Amino acid sequence: MNRAIDLALIGGTGLYRFPDLQHIERHAVDTPHGHPSDSIVIGEVGRHRIAFLARHGESHTIPPHRVNYRANLWALHHLGARRVIGVNAVGGIRADMEPRMLAVPDQIIDYTSDRISSFCDVAGAQVRHVDFSEPYTASLRQALVAAADSIGIAIVDGGCYGATQGPRLETRAEIARMRRDGCDLVGMTGMPEAVLARELDLDYACLSLVANWAAGCGDQAEISLAEIYANLEAATAQLPTLIVALLEGL
Ligand code: HPA
Repeated sequence: MNRAIDLALIGGTGLYRFPDLQHIERHAVDTPHGHPSDSIVIGEVGRHRIAFLARHGESHTIPPHRVNYRANLWALHHLGARRVIGVNAVGGIRADMEPRMLAVPDQIIDYTSDRISSFCDVAGAQVRHVDFSEPYTASLRQALVAAADSIGIAIVDGGCYGATQGPRLETRAEIARMRRDGCDLVGMTGMPEAVLARELDLDYACLSLVANWAAGCGDQAEISLAEIYANLEAATAQLPTLIVALLEGL
């Protein structure tokens, strides 16, 4: 019998593998909802066992609106994961969400459309209206923030994640509206992942990596993709240490 999985990570843009995993197994899981974005890699970091899935596929071929969020969550749950951290690249709206910053949001506004956002969306499935007042699991959020604090990584605790449809970036007017709505960060993959995790009773938190100022928030007229990737690389470099500190504290 395999040992339990301590943590599952869903890597977003810029995070396609978890470095230095030992004793790796790859699981190509077929689910009732179709195929996950890629094989799920299970391996060990020290005495901990983690599962890793690249949300856009390991070669980044799946755009945010085409990710099979249901298959991804179902497969992780099926393999035994009970705690999931979704790592998401985002644009910063609030002044302290500057490029390269890490943040652990505590609220979401969903602006996406036409994404299958429930496991109830299957003929004959029992309808379940999950409570989503607090979209993220407080204990997992707090553990992430405490882990970052314990190793001196700057992290913003809280904030509202606005989930947009993508794959295009937003207009300045859209971001101005999102700011008025109370959004602090903007990303394309936060939903329906969070609600599907809730439907499966998984503990779920989002670790946002700020890749750029959202449209109209910085002093640049345009958002440069090269800059996005450079910022993501810098932010992502901190993740392995952060995740190890998190695992030690769980
Ligand atoms: N908007 C939406 N998603 C993003 C952004 C952004 O500015 N940057 C990285 N992911």
